[in-house]
Amino acid sequence: MIRVLFVCLGNICRSPMAEGLFRDLVVRRGLGEVVHVDSAGTHDYHIGEPPDARARLAMAGHGIDIGGLAGRQVTAADLRDFDYVLAMDRSNLENLQRLAGGGPCAARLFLEFAREAKTREVPDPYYGGPEGFERVYALLEDAAHGLLADIERRLPRT
Ligand code: 4NP
Repeated sequence: MIRVLFVCLGNICRSPMAEGLFRDLVVRRGLGEVVHVDSAGTHDYHIGEPPDARARLAMAGHGIDIGGLAGRQVTAADLRDFDYVLAMDRSNLENLQRLAGGGPCAARLFLEFAREAKTREVPDPYYGGPEGFERVYALLEDAAHGLLADIERRLPRT
């Protein structure tokens, strides 16, 4: 099993969108039993809450339902348990490094896997309009394909 955790600030916008998008890609690729996908926030503001309505709407527009997800906060154990810990922006990454307490931390920016995007950070859409969520979707989709290719290189050939 390969474990992938997406991390943002609140776990109600970017990272649950990434979780839903990447899980959909993985399942369509026939890897649903091989790749475990999850998401979490660095902060505790929205624990137990479903994704933001604007995030749900943007995902629904792409045929993906994320209404069943619930916010949770990232833990130090997550940093050990997941093979990929993928931060949405540099602030999230710094928070993860702090959580690791100076020990080794494999967290990195998700957009390192992007092929088209010029930026390495997924902008926080929380205080903006719906177009911000579409921009987030496009960035996530770009990096998701690169991540899937990276994972497939690690899997034994069948
Ligand atoms: P996210 O967006 O990190 O993509 O889930 C945010 C969600 C909530 C807040 C900020 C960003 N907040 O300040 O509550």
